[in-house]
Amino acid sequence: MEERLQKILAKAGIASRRGSEQLIRDGRITVNGRPITELGFKADPAKDTITFDGKPLTFEHKVYVLLNKPAGYVTTLADPQGRPIVSDLLQDFPERLFPVGRLDLDTEGALLMTNDGELGNTILHPRYEVKKTYEAWVAGFPSAKELGRLERGIEIDGVRTRPAQIRVLKRDKNQSLVEVIIHEGKKRQVRKMFQAIDHRVIHLKRTAYGKLRLGSLARGKYRILTINDLKKIFSQKIPFTIKNILA
Ligand code: URA
Repeated sequence: MEERLQKILAKAGIASRRGSEQLIRDGRITVNGRPITELGFKADPAKDTITFDGKPLTFEHKVYVLLNKPAGYVTTLADPQGRPIVSDLLQDFPERLFPVGRLDLDTEGALLMTNDGELGNTILHPRYEVKKTYEAWVAGFPSAKELGRLERGIEIDGVRTRPAQIRVLKRDKNQSLVEVIIHEGKKRQVRKMFQAIDHRVIHLKRTAYGKLRLGSLARGKYRILTINDLKKIFSQKIPFTIKNILA
């Protein structure tokens, strides 16, 4: 089946769709021996020979893993400072898995890792409004009024956050456990939201992408996801079918 070149490259795990467009513009892709720099170009991976920097594309299996990231691990593929990185926990996989979104160094919990650039981009694209659930232990006891401000949207670094769902799960001696559901991913968003109402986040964990929950997965462990797991992430119809999955 013919598809746009950037889509084929993303499916082969070469780069995100946008990153693939840049590779095309840079003249690093050929189809049947001819360099292609035009973004609308279509090819059929089953019939055409497509190369990236001279090497033919291979369509490796897509792997989707849900990792329970521990605090102290950096969400990156390499760290110049030599700190532990999330890929250290996924050494069982020969595929190069990259994180879908990021968690701060000091945040733990659900982190999806995959070699499927197309699915990764869809999860991160604002249009699909994938909900992310966090549990935050925060200092003190935020009032209903303060939490209402977070629910309606609050200004952070000059930009208003989208409406959020907020629920107090537990109160301790001097701190509260608050569940926060958002579908944005601004840098340190949950921490900054609570900072804006003067309740510092003491501990932060992501517990779900959509309805895909971390559950009882132990810290530092992962599980391989099935198609049914992946479907739980989305509340809207996605524009492609998930296939070629190793699970
Ligand atoms: N919000 C934060 O503040 N930190 C994260 O790691 C994720 C969301």
